[in-house]
Amino acid sequence: MNKINHNFKKNYVGLARGFFSLPIISIFSRLSEKERILDKNFFLKRSLFKIFDKNALEIILNYLESVNLIKKLTKEKYFITAFGRYVFNRHGAMNIIYSYKDIVDNLEKILIGKQKKIKCDRIENIYGSGKSHKRKFFDNALSIIKKNKITKIIDLGLGNGDFIRNVLKKKPNLKFVGVDLSKNVINQLKKDLGNSKNMIVSDIFKINQWLKKLKKNNLNDDDKLLINFMFTLHEHNFNDDNKVKNFLNDIRSSFPNATILITEVFEIQPKTFSTVVDNSILPEFILFHKFSKQKLFFYKQFKKIIKTSDYFISTEITYSKIKIGNFTSPSYATIFLKPKK
Ligand SMILES: C[S@@+](CC[C@H](N)C(=O)[O-])C[C@H]1O[C@@H](n2cnc3c(N)ncnc32)[C@H](O)[C@@H]1O
Repeated sequence: MNKINHNFKKNYVGLARGFFSLPIISIFSRLSEKERILDKNFFLKRSLFKIFDKNALEIILNYLESVNLIKKLTKEKYFITAFGRYVFNRHGAMNIIYSYKDIVDNLEKILIGKQKKIKCDRIENIYGSGKSHKRKFFDNALSIIKKNKITKIIDLGLGNGDFIRNVLKKKPNLKFVGVDLSKNVINQLKKDLGNSKNMIVSDIFKINQWLKKLKKNNLNDDDKLLINFMFTLHEHNFNDDNKVKNFLNDIRSSFPNATILITEVFEIQPKTFSTVVDNSILPEFILFHKFSKQKLFFYKQFKKIIKTSDYFISTEITYSKIKIGNFTSPSYATIFLKPKK
């Protein structure tokens, strides 16, 4: 087989495999998490018997071995391959994609216009976000928090709360409030973090709504306050860049001295992507954001919006840069904003 055909075949297999491999890796990783098998080089099949149906487990383990993620050493003992380690370490991004399984289940209805709204499985989504964002973004956010001596945080769309948990580990006296639209998410967090007063169910884009509830939390004083948007600004279907600017300026009016930390994923044009597609799962991310009517910004567009707002960029960290010819854009960025004087 010549090289072109070989690459076509490899890519074809990857495209077809994803249908089963992505849910299997996402769910297997989540369900087996308590047993911590993916943290070790070896694991025993019987350690998974209390979680999985025995027959289903046998099928899944055989499949994972066929696709070179694990290796069976004896009847009982399995080894996680180097490729498996790479994949399992990154399963969070797969859980995020899987949380939009409604698109797959109802694709035909969506394509012929019979289904307009997409359901996101929020618990799966925040589980994946927490895992994936911890790997990539928390440390940089933490160093910005430390450097700027932040003592209070309002986390808008806090997901599984891992960001706050991580910050509290380093700064136990920090005051925080978390806001999320999903009752399921907030109820889970009230259980996990044990403080119900500073967990607010509200739409983060309706500032007055959460502001009223916030008043009870002594966070009115905005000195050394940070407002965090970690992959949440795009959750709104902003249909005009001015609306983003106005939203940021409304935050400024309510908290004149507060700083803002935004971590976002960016849109890339399809024709740019097609040449680097083997190295990125952004096409899948762009697809589910678009189907579920979330706003993805182009990097340059986003920076322009900030320039017109009442904030300036004090620090910026970019990740996974895509570079083709003259075009360059990060896939993600963490941007720290301070109020203009
Ligand atoms: C992609 S997750 C990110 C979670 C977390 N910030 C992280 O980085 O892991 C988006 C979160 O924002 C919440 N969310 C989405 N739209 C929202 C809205 N309009 N108001 C409040 N929360 C919202 C979701 O419930 C979810 O927890």
